[in-house]
Amino acid sequence: MNNSKRIMAGVASLAMLAGVVAAFPVQPEKVNAEDDVIFSADFEDGKEDGFSRRGEDETVEVISEGAHGGDNCLSISTRAESWNGPQVALDDVIEAGAQYIVTAYAKTPYYSKLTLSMQFDDAEGTTHYDNVLPQDCKDGDWLKYETKFSFPSGATNKYLYFEAADANCTIFVDDFKISNMPDVAIEEDLTSLRAYYADSFKIGTALTPSDLASKPFMKLVNKHFSGSITVGNELKPDYVLNSKATLAYMEENGDDENPQVSLASAKPVLDYCVKYNIPLRAHTLVWHSQTPEWFFKENYDAKADYVTPEKMKKRMENYIKNVFAALKEEYPTLNIYACDVVNEAWLEDGTPRKPGHPSESNQWGASDWVAVFGDNSFIDYAFEYARKYAPEGCKLYYNDYNEYMDKKKQIVEMATRLKEKGVIDGIGMQAHLDARQSMDAAFPSPQMFENAVKEYAATGLDIQITELDATVPEKSGDQYFEHQAKYFDAIMDVAEKYKDNISAVIFWGVTDDNSWRASQNPLLFDSEFKAKPAFYSIIEGLTPGEVPTLEPTDVPTKTAPSESPSPSPTVSPSETTAPESPSPEPTETATPEVTETPTATPTSENANVAYGDLDSSGTVDVTDLTQLSLFLLKDLKLDEKAQKCADVNADGNIDLTDLATLRQFISKKISKLGA
Ligand code: GLA
Repeated sequence: MNNSKRIMAGVASLAMLAGVVAAFPVQPEKVNAEDDVIFSADFEDGKEDGFSRRGEDETVEVISEGAHGGDNCLSISTRAESWNGPQVALDDVIEAGAQYIVTAYAKTPYYSKLTLSMQFDDAEGTTHYDNVLPQDCKDGDWLKYETKFSFPSGATNKYLYFEAADANCTIFVDDFKISNMPDVAIEEDLTSLRAYYADSFKIGTALTPSDLASKPFMKLVNKHFSGSITVGNELKPDYVLNSKATLAYMEENGDDENPQVSLASAKPVLDYCVKYNIPLRAHTLVWHSQTPEWFFKENYDAKADYVTPEKMKKRMENYIKNVFAALKEEYPTLNIYACDVVNEAWLEDGTPRKPGHPSESNQWGASDWVAVFGDNSFIDYAFEYARKYAPEGCKLYYNDYNEYMDKKKQIVEMATRLKEKGVIDGIGMQAHLDARQSMDAAFPSPQMFENAVKEYAATGLDIQITELDATVPEKSGDQYFEHQAKYFDAIMDVAEKYKDNISAVIFWGVTDDNSWRASQNPLLFDSEFKAKPAFYSIIEGLTPGEVPTLEPTDVPTKTAPSESPSPSPTVSPSETTAPESPSPEPTETATPEVTETPTATPTSENANVAYGDLDSSGTVDVTDLTQLSLFLLKDLKLDEKAQKCADVNADGNIDLTDLATLRQFISKKISKLGA
């Protein structure tokens, strides 16, 4: 993999989805990182304290000028690439699968994006790169880096490193420490949600590998959400489809209709489900988003023409067959009780998506599936193949967002047709809801939500609420938590009312701070692992019920992927989406006049869109500007949500006007984004 790809793989994986990032800044007052230091480097003895250079030509020196603390700091000069910089090898310091805190100070002599990043090899030897904490270094001041981090279980060759977007500037590091993450007690005496709703439906959540490293987080999962687990990202096509193995298969067999798959990224979460015998919702097979463009193109070349519908049907069938075969082979005892076969095929008004690749500019929300098939006819094939290859007991769902809007009609028609064919079992209502600040403003209203449940129930199909969260206004702290509690209560009342039709309610996360909508606090627990009013509202009136105990099973998982029908993968999902071209240095990043970070401004027309906040950080800043310029240069893919946010003038196109507008907003020349 070339050097520029290393950097872009990190940026791309960060941008893909908030929930996938392995680290979150800690609130320093809550954690005393001095408590349990297991590694420290202050360079006071004149030595490099375990740091080395990542590239071949950097000059690594301990210098005694401008240190953060004491007399010395580390300097890495003569860098030639943005990924060049200081790294520290951690295999002898920390364990994969556990959570730690890193505290460090770093700077560049003049403005640059300066990012703390991580590198590791997974169980199959594929190298991954992730951005841990990007910050803007201004005026040569020391920046504090303090964040939780973890490497997924099974990771080896583990490194933390600093990289600077400006390839020429020197990087300085000082007072670098790693501490054990203190174990925080959870509220053990709460009623278990899972037990409370046991007679009505399963209660579950979505998990990504990095979640597994936090002990208190996993205690909450075990106690409340262990009725069903969805792998948050790593069973999506971007992660599962393996480009190198697919190309190798094509070359060896002269067959370009058999895409190869890998479950390596999902392994930590799948192992967890097997270990505790937790039922899995497989999410998701066929989706316009987070799916590589090459999958749809001649010779698996993203730049080539789309294949014919006939060829795509064969690719789709083999892909679905290979996914279920790999799951069976590698996780023979895993209980895959539900699967989202198709996700988000209908727009709110009930029309199919536009043809095209969703990460291309001007093609926001577009679908390669529609580009190949011309319409939504691919849905029927997907269900036909899923029925053919899914294991017995695995129910098949059509899953959609804004499922309470006009598209209900098309979903019901489609589901009824698929039911007649015997290939669908249920409808997944994502339920990414907005409680907002009052019942009047909430969208959807509980009544509107109930109307949708009622219509879907009338099809006779099962319903699952698959991704439940309910936001309050950005940065409103706990101001609207009581209202949010009432809203959650009303939604769960609807679920209870239709419990005969609903088999599972899955929350999209556990604690607010690692939600994909973290700045809008949409979940039941806060960043301190404490139950919010929303939690109490949905178990109101009950004394602690029986708590399910999760005992690890003895069943070993197969760890030899070479036994799998798919060739072992050699490329990470982030690599498959990384562009080939060198990472450009966006000139737009120099915005020295910014003194205060503007917040994103949703408009009333589409209040879900935080215009300008491409990275869902809750603020609009130079990171967003950088992402937008990389996207326009086709060097960064943005998921659908980020693309909505990128269209800052809301004219339906993402182009240079948006870039100019965003720059003006950040430098406070204009005060509003959106329509
Ligand atoms: C959709 C998808 C989920 C997830 C969320 C955002 O709802 O179905 O997998 O990507 O968007 O986190």
